[in-house]
Amino acid sequence: MTNLRFTAEVETYTVLILGLDEYQPTRRDLPPEFAFLDAGKSKTLRNQERIVLRTVFDDWDIPYSGKLRGWRDDSPLFVMHDDQLAGGLYLCDQNEFDEDPKHGQLHYVFVAPHFQGRGLYSVLFREAVKRAANWGLTHMYLNSDRYLLPEVYLRWGAKPYKQINKSSRALRVGSLQAPPWIARPLRRMSRQFRRALQYWHHAGD
Ligand SMILES: CC(C)(COP(=O)(O)OP(=O)(O)OC[C@H]1O[C@@H](n2cnc3c(N)ncnc32)[C@H](O)[C@@H]1OP(=O)(O)O)[C@@H](O)C(=O)NCCC(=O)NCCS
Repeated sequence: MTNLRFTAEVETYTVLILGLDEYQPTRRDLPPEFAFLDAGKSKTLRNQERIVLRTVFDDWDIPYSGKLRGWRDDSPLFVMHDDQLAGGLYLCDQNEFDEDPKHGQLHYVFVAPHFQGRGLYSVLFREAVKRAANWGLTHMYLNSDRYLLPEVYLRWGAKPYKQINKSSRALRVGSLQAPPWIARPLRRMSRQFRRALQYWHHAGD
């Protein structure tokens, strides 16, 4: 029995692949006060985007665009609440697991904490599947290290692809591998240090 909350970070990445034809679409709609942002306008939201992403991802790395394989100008898909960024995701037309030109990948899905649990992500995901199909993709990889999210993806039609244990990427010093209780805080400190450097570097953006 675990008392983890939905989307708490776990020690394993679960990679799944969704055949777009296999997708079981949600019947939800965006609640009335929410709307999708026009694809060309996402760059105007960089500051809000940083704030929300830093709230939900411990290790969010800026700048991500250009670093994700298959990034396009219309990769961001955002939902707005008036002029406030409520949630989003990044759809890429390539992936980090195979070379098939029809296999894309979803990255950094997020909904601001005060808007979570209202179905925004289910609708965002359906929109991402539609966008991927419009791009000519047949499949989309999903990679999650969050509690119960892979089960949601299975329910939506995805198939398991592989699991990656974070400790297999644990820190090594010479031939010694640091145990998770040392590796985790070290990884966190290294992330904080990188973030401080990036903040300093991008302070004038
Ligand atoms: C993951 C996240 C984007 C979901 O956003 P959300 O708008 O709150 O999600 P929704 O309300 O649309 O729910 C999505 C699905 O999860 C299901 N779900 C929600 N809470 C759940 C729970 N406690 N247990 C099981 N399923 C749950 C919903 O039923 C829904 O599926 P359905 O539409 O088929 O019914 C959001 O929780 C988040 O930003 N978390 C932090 C960042 C993160 O973990 N990103 C993923 C990294 S891999």
